[in-house]
Amino acid sequence: MSDPSAPHLLLGCCDYPEHVPETLWASYAQRQRAAGLSFSRIAEFAWSRMEPRPGEYDWAWLDRAVEAYHAAGLRVVLCTPTATPPAWLIRAHPEILAYDDQGRMREFGSRRHYDFASPVYRAHSQRITRALAERYGKHPAVAGWQTDNEFGCHGTSRSYGGASAAAFPGWLRARYGTLDALNGAWGNVFWSMEYSDWSQIRPPILTVTEPNPAHVLDYARFSSDLIRDFQAEQVAVLRECSPGRFVTHNFMIFESGFDHYRVAEGLDFVTWDNYPLGMLEFFAPPGTGEALKLRYAGTGHPDLISFNHDLYRGLLASPGLGREGPGTPNGFWVMEQQCGPVNWAPYNPVPELGAVALWTAQAWAHGADVVSYFRWRAATMAQEVMHSGLLRHDGEPDQGLAEVAAFDPAPCRTGEVPARVALLHDYESLWLYDVQRHSASLSYWTQVLTFYSALRSLGIDVDVISADRDLSGYAVIVAPAVTLMTPERAARWAQAVEAGARLMCGPRTAFRAPGGGAWESGQFGPLQALVGVKLRRYDSLRPGLTRQVSGGFEAEAWAESYELHGAEVQHTYESGPLSGQVAVTRRGGVTVIGAYSPALVRHVLHSVLQEAGLDLLDLPEGVRVSRRAGQTLVQNWTQDTVTWAGQAVGPVQFLFQGARADNLG
Ligand code: GLA
Repeated sequence: MSDPSAPHLLLGCCDYPEHVPETLWASYAQRQRAAGLSFSRIAEFAWSRMEPRPGEYDWAWLDRAVEAYHAAGLRVVLCTPTATPPAWLIRAHPEILAYDDQGRMREFGSRRHYDFASPVYRAHSQRITRALAERYGKHPAVAGWQTDNEFGCHGTSRSYGGASAAAFPGWLRARYGTLDALNGAWGNVFWSMEYSDWSQIRPPILTVTEPNPAHVLDYARFSSDLIRDFQAEQVAVLRECSPGRFVTHNFMIFESGFDHYRVAEGLDFVTWDNYPLGMLEFFAPPGTGEALKLRYAGTGHPDLISFNHDLYRGLLASPGLGREGPGTPNGFWVMEQQCGPVNWAPYNPVPELGAVALWTAQAWAHGADVVSYFRWRAATMAQEVMHSGLLRHDGEPDQGLAEVAAFDPAPCRTGEVPARVALLHDYESLWLYDVQRHSASLSYWTQVLTFYSALRSLGIDVDVISADRDLSGYAVIVAPAVTLMTPERAARWAQAVEAGARLMCGPRTAFRAPGGGAWESGQFGPLQALVGVKLRRYDSLRPGLTRQVSGGFEAEAWAESYELHGAEVQHTYESGPLSGQVAVTRRGGVTVIGAYSPALVRHVLHSVLQEAGLDLLDLPEGVRVSRRAGQTLVQNWTQDTVTWAGQAVGPVQFLFQGARADNLG
């Protein structure tokens, strides 16, 4: 049995005292503690209760709520309430509101109704943060802070009018210095898009046909910087008024609207919100369609979930991420863990029996130190009355609470995930890939998940990290879709290969230069010497159209071919207009695959990983293995019983390798 005193996974929940009668606060807090919870996250949407009228603070209710959690032995994560500015503020300053990509103002009446660039809002954000932190920043129950809530949720990473539109030209001027430099970097000569004055530049929306991808890229970079700066202002106030408490944010599933590596700077660690069933509806892996959604309807797909865990674990090493304050865990948190049906997907099934426990164990195995469930009690009001909680609307326990209360976290010791493989991720590449997909069947995430899923099906633990991160220590580096290349990035990858790492690059790698256009020297640009190839042709395949590839494989959706410049041929196309041309190459420890084929990706990866001396597993569909702190978690995501090392693992259950600890008795 594990050492019960060793640091292990802790549990928590998201609670809303302002949503229920005060007579319930103490009993709810006591029931949370009795269920084995250690944290309660509160107040992210409570601004109108904290400040019902301009300058009139009402802290009395929050004082009593914090005391109720404190009395029950819970630690509180307090949130800055800036995701929901109150009506009195918005009606006094409508310039705070943001604009969608059709140029329409997004009205008050739900949440996230603000523009990150609004000077008025930035001032009020700092003011309410300071008022809150001055009052609770040193309270013994307050463990730390969450900034705002889910930057980017509801497509709010960017505002395309108002304050953001006004700030954009100044950001460009600071970046490029002169209009000649801007026009040159964007290639504005192309359709007479050259600017002769900074004031002529607007957000990249409502253009007759597609906007300049360089314009879109820089607007995404600009908007990312706005979010980073907005948060940094809150973090500075929290550091000043609440020393020794952690500061984090709750990021989201596959959020693409901003650069997480830049926005996470300055946080102590990161958290994210894990909704496996809703996620499946929007991100089912490529070429799987309805069959996969049916198979995983009650559990979610393991790789979609663990990819996000691995991405957020990889954020911990972002520059500027400290670990200030006592009790700050080494890992990340799941701040909102689905524990029943959500309300926002096309279909919102109940989780399979055991799924909440499986999600909890998987989160731990991929590096989470805290799993906090959303939400304590189902909401009886407003937009989320159809969303589940650990308690039903009537306050009675739901299935999720039964699984949480039965979950034994003692075997889930905190510690490192021993990944020897790095998968490189880059938001600027994501934006460029998706702004000119050239194939309606593909996206940046689809391509990345094809490589990630192949690694996981081979039993490989993966660090998902920034394409600009230090790569020393990795045996294999996989770059599925890093389409933007810089000389510095190329040099860092070459250095890692020189040090003995193997590198595998996916289609479209290094097609783009930093300005967003194509490299004039041809694809791979500064990476050409390392990969030993140049791009020859690229073929975008409609569904049903495939190209045969040597070795019995079929390319679907995308087929690019290469000229050899020092590399050797591994696979060639055997049908279509690229027949006889090169599909997969190898130069020393560097492999490039231009044919989009999940089977071929897995086959080539298998060889690269084997050569690197990594232990591989040929896992059956729906079975996953994850390792952490010297333990191995075997997970069965299917509806059938599977056998692992002579032990039966039931449907939607898990066990620790070598010891039956499936937490479900
Ligand atoms: C997001 C938000 C929560 C809630 C949940 C519902 O994660 O952060 O406030 O709306 O979704 O699943």
